[in-house]
Amino acid sequence: MLTKFLLSLLAVQHLVGAVNFAWEETQLTKDDIATFDSIAFADTALSVPVDSNINIATSSGRECKVGPWDTAWPTEAEWAAFNTSLDGALIMTVPQGAVCYPNDPHYDKAACAAVVEATAHSGGIVVDPSNIVQPWSAGEPCNITETPIGNCSLGGFPVYIVNATTVKHVQLGVNFARNKGIRLVVKNTGHDFVGRSVGAGALSIWLHNLQGQKFVPDFSGSNYCGPAARIAGGIQGWQVYNFMADNNISIVAPGESTVAILGGFTAVGGHSALTSYYGMGSDQAIQLQVVTADGRFLQVDTDNNADLFFAMRGGGGSTYGIVTSAVVKAFPPLTLQTAQFVWSGSLDANFSSPNIDPFTGAITVDKEAFWSGVREYIQFSRSVSSARGIGICNIDPPTDPLSGLFQMTGQFILPGQTLNDATAFLEPFFSTMIQLGIPLTQSNTTTITGQAYNTRRTGQGDPVSQNRFSSRLFPRTNWADPALFNATVQSIRAAKWQGFPNDAVNPAFRETLMHAIAFDSASPVKDGRVLPAKVVNAAHARLDSFIDAWRKLTPGSGAYMNEADVQEPEWQQSFFGDHYPRLLHIKRHRDPWGVFWAPTTPGSEAWEVVVADGLPLQTGPLCRT
Ligand SMILES: Cc1cc2nc3c(=O)[nH]c(=O)nc-3n(C[C@H](O)[C@H](O)[C@H](O)COP(=O)(O)OP(=O)(O)OC[C@H]3O[C@@H](n4cnc5c(N)ncnc54)[C@H](O)[C@@H]3O)c2cc1C
Ligand SMILES: *[C@@H]1O[C@H](CO)[C@@H](O)[C@H](O)[C@H]1NC(C)=O
Ligand SMILES: *[C@@H]1O[C@H](CO)[C@@H](O)[C@H](O)[C@H]1NC(C)=O
Ligand SMILES: *[C@@H]1O[C@H](CO)[C@@H](O)[C@H](O)[C@H]1NC(C)=O
Ligand SMILES: *[C@@H]1O[C@H](CO)[C@@H](O)[C@H](O)[C@H]1NC(C)=O
Ligand SMILES: *[C@@H]1O[C@H](CO)[C@@H](O)[C@H](O)[C@H]1NC(C)=O
Ligand SMILES: *[C@@H]1O[C@H](CO)[C@@H](O)[C@H](O)[C@H]1NC(C)=O
Ligand SMILES: *[C@@H]1O[C@H](CO)[C@@H](O)[C@H](O)[C@H]1NC(C)=O
Ligand SMILES: *[C@@H]1O[C@H](CO)[C@@H](O)[C@H](O)[C@H]1NC(C)=O
Repeated sequence: MLTKFLLSLLAVQHLVGAVNFAWEETQLTKDDIATFDSIAFADTALSVPVDSNINIATSSGRECKVGPWDTAWPTEAEWAAFNTSLDGALIMTVPQGAVCYPNDPHYDKAACAAVVEATAHSGGIVVDPSNIVQPWSAGEPCNITETPIGNCSLGGFPVYIVNATTVKHVQLGVNFARNKGIRLVVKNTGHDFVGRSVGAGALSIWLHNLQGQKFVPDFSGSNYCGPAARIAGGIQGWQVYNFMADNNISIVAPGESTVAILGGFTAVGGHSALTSYYGMGSDQAIQLQVVTADGRFLQVDTDNNADLFFAMRGGGGSTYGIVTSAVVKAFPPLTLQTAQFVWSGSLDANFSSPNIDPFTGAITVDKEAFWSGVREYIQFSRSVSSARGIGICNIDPPTDPLSGLFQMTGQFILPGQTLNDATAFLEPFFSTMIQLGIPLTQSNTTTITGQAYNTRRTGQGDPVSQNRFSSRLFPRTNWADPALFNATVQSIRAAKWQGFPNDAVNPAFRETLMHAIAFDSASPVKDGRVLPAKVVNAAHARLDSFIDAWRKLTPGSGAYMNEADVQEPEWQQSFFGDHYPRLLHIKRHRDPWGVFWAPTTPGSEAWEVVVADGLPLQTGPLCRT
């Protein structure tokens, strides 16, 4: 009798624990569905995909998701009924730049000027329901500029958007897209670099307005007891930093202020200043609240839906379900000691080294000294990693290849150290640099300063530019063998031609010591047009040739999917390693309908976006391969 009573009490507590925020109690019910079949839940007993609504294009004979170009596309009355079920939260997409196009009904010169200014930083893009930070992946169909060329169109942007503020809204979006065979995309902040938050002819679920943060000083779960925080799906980095300051705590959060903490950051890995100290973003989640592909709302942790708990912390965003909120670990407040330094390398063969500018303190050295300094920086990064810190550097090639200067901008971030600790720790680095002819300690461009990790921020975000990415994770073993280490440094040097490598010392990418990135500023789109495939492919091949050299030096390693090439060869191994077969199994089991799809996520090889010349854009229909 007593046992039974205790058990039922536990069950009640369990239900209470299932919801982090009041808006998660607003869920889709059988009564809401009544006779409107389009919003019904899937029958989870079915293990065979129900594809009855997927359009079979007659011309090509391929099965594709239903788009506005198909007769199976819902009628206006159906969209209106869907909107009613959502209590009016359905938005018809108007690209953020539409106000800039004189031929567009939304044209408004003053509004255009304001949007041009706001979207120069990422914060101005996060607040728009459809726009993304790298719109080239949508074909840049509505470039935001006061001097537009051509007309504004939807391109790869979705057609309709659910402005979600409750779990019910998210469930409705998932059910409607699945039942009608429509492509579903999920936009949080839109930071994804390759178009994982857009799609032509899609219904999008916009998570930005899922808001809330609560500190739980003494969370108690089966896999974690201690301080924690309940965080809503739409919360961005800057909000987390302010919340940390309010509560005198630390939480592992994205370095960029406007990246969502529970979006791609938690779903794919998430590196930050605290990576070597407390682990990666994915490691922080203790519990997730999730709407799955069948439309149901689940608690996901070590005891409930453990397959999803494994997969949704590193196995890909928009793949298994939509995270409406989570409980993440919280830690005591921390100070970060940051050492920042800059030196330049001259291409002038007669340059006599070193030269310290008496006014700015800027150091310029000859080309060989420049690269030996870079080598020492990479070498010393191993010690920084052992001290639970990270390094971040940019190597900028000369803008003028004949006469300019290379510039190395580096920093080491040492969490939890005092200024004295950090100064003593860095002494060997600075003295070796003096021996190499780079007297950083005499320069006033070198500083070591302490700052609270939980320093307040604003939501403006970083300046936006169009880039293509490629990257590689260099494992610890590349430091152990001197010849391999030299080859590693040489490969970084060889990639200097355009763009810059950026390294973050990172043992919590398990074996990784360096995350090296090369950017290519060549966008596949120019003046409102996708460039000829020949041009796009040539630019990509050039970038890839350097990454290929990095791949050869790091066999069996991989790349960080969030900051990698969408055309990465053998991406399954590269982005997920040995986890791939297990992730694919979970994906197929949890989403046999293929409701969730984003490029290079587990199971995505079953579908492809059909675009002329196979360019990696989100501008065409999504069809089975
Ligand atoms: C300027 C800049 C700086 C960056 N800095 C860092 C950094 O410091 N560290 C780091 O690790 N990464 C960094 N990134 C990469 C960033 O982590 C990824 O772009 C990440 O995917 C962004 O996630 P988001 O949810 O904010 O963006 P979105 O583009 O909205 O979403 C990314 C993907 O996750 C899916 N998704 C988003 N939210 C959810 C959810 N709640 N449930 C299910 N699926 C969801 C989307 O469908 C999409 O597939 C940076 C990117 C940029 C542009
Ligand atoms: C959905 O309904 C709301 C409220 O009636 C309305 O403002 C909105 O325009 C509708 N959305 C669409 C796409 O029609
Ligand atoms: C742009 O839109 C206008 C008005 O709708 C139309 O007349 C014109 O042909 C369009 N131009 C292009 C290039 O599509
Ligand atoms: C989204 O919904 C919120 C809450 O109802 C509302 O305040 C906001 O204006 C909506 N955003 C858009 C773009 O419709
Ligand atoms: C913040 O927390 C630290 C350690 O947990 C404590 O020493 C300090 O007094 C706290 N500060 C405030 C203002 O509460
Ligand atoms: C470098 O020095 C050599 C020998 O003094 C001289 O001939 C040459 O012109 C110099 N080059 C430059 C770029 O100044
Ligand atoms: C750098 O140092 C020089 C010489 O010591 C000094 O004149 C100059 O003001 C310093 N510059 C800055 C920005 O501190
Ligand atoms: C690696 O490079 C350094 C510096 O350039 C050199 O001194 C060393 O001999 C090289 N080691 C090997 C094994 O090639
Ligand atoms: C967008 O417009 C700006 C300003 O006119 C221009 O520099 C840029 O090349 C355009 N981008 C694309 C992709 O067309």
